[in-house]
Amino acid sequence: MADALPVCYLNGQFLPLAEARVSPLDRGFLFGDAVYEVIPVYGDRPLLLDAHLQRLDRSLRELGISNPLQIDAWQELVRDLIDRNGGGDVGIYLQVTRGADTGRDHRFPAGVTPGVFGMASPMPPPPGGIAAITLPDARWGRCDIKATALLANVLARQRAEDAGAQEAILVWDGVVTEGSSSSVLIVEGDDIVRRPNGEEILPGTTTDLIVDLARQAGLTCREEIISVERLRSADEIWITSAMRGIAAIVELDGKPVGSGNPGPVWRQVSAIYEDYKHGPD
Ligand code: PDD
Repeated sequence: MADALPVCYLNGQFLPLAEARVSPLDRGFLFGDAVYEVIPVYGDRPLLLDAHLQRLDRSLRELGISNPLQIDAWQELVRDLIDRNGGGDVGIYLQVTRGADTGRDHRFPAGVTPGVFGMASPMPPPPGGIAAITLPDARWGRCDIKATALLANVLARQRAEDAGAQEAILVWDGVVTEGSSSSVLIVEGDDIVRRPNGEEILPGTTTDLIVDLARQAGLTCREEIISVERLRSADEIWITSAMRGIAAIVELDGKPVGSGNPGPVWRQVSAIYEDYKHGPD
């Protein structure tokens, strides 16, 4: 992974990332009591900014943290982070914590100000075909909230890396939930299948866009539960995320998926996505 870009935003100020400091009493640090978003930017243009800001607002509401900025202030913050870091293709990370109290107490503190942090990172090149492993989903029951408490995701991703793979596909009770940091879709014949949203997964902004684009191109997209058996017999498996776009899983648990190369539906949809992300809205 490339290093983060030099200018960050912390609680009202833009400053060098290397100089940014937060209190050890910040509840994001003590409890993972914080939410975040990652917004892809191509050619200076944030993709799906409104959807990301709406999801951020929803995550905050679900945790009872008041949104510290109005929508236009968030938009300006994102714009400034892009510009101050030289623009181009970057990923913008935004985080809001419940704030820093005067001690450690599980109960919500009264009267603390939420903390806001933002930074930018270079966008990695589109991944193409990658390997994945399946793992039991060991996370909590509210994965629809984009919380920074990501220990189970981190452990799953590291287990994938240790197995020579780049993503872990999580399975709960025989059913695919999502990737450690991505949504999962499959292709059966020419049809794309995504699983329904719910409290078990993050509602993925990239999946929503990809399904819209695929439908506009005349493809069929269904919303159905994906059992692990169905995953294993799929013609294609995709993962999607703000930072990785749409990647084809070409190997699952050491076995080839389909022909072992990115499949024809992936090639079609990924070309449409590449055009869209660089083109006019
Ligand atoms: N994560 N599911 C999980 C668990 C994720 O962490 C992500 C993205 C997604 C895809 O959501 P979207 O398409 O809106 O990026 C699904 C970000 C990129 C991250 O944690 O870095």
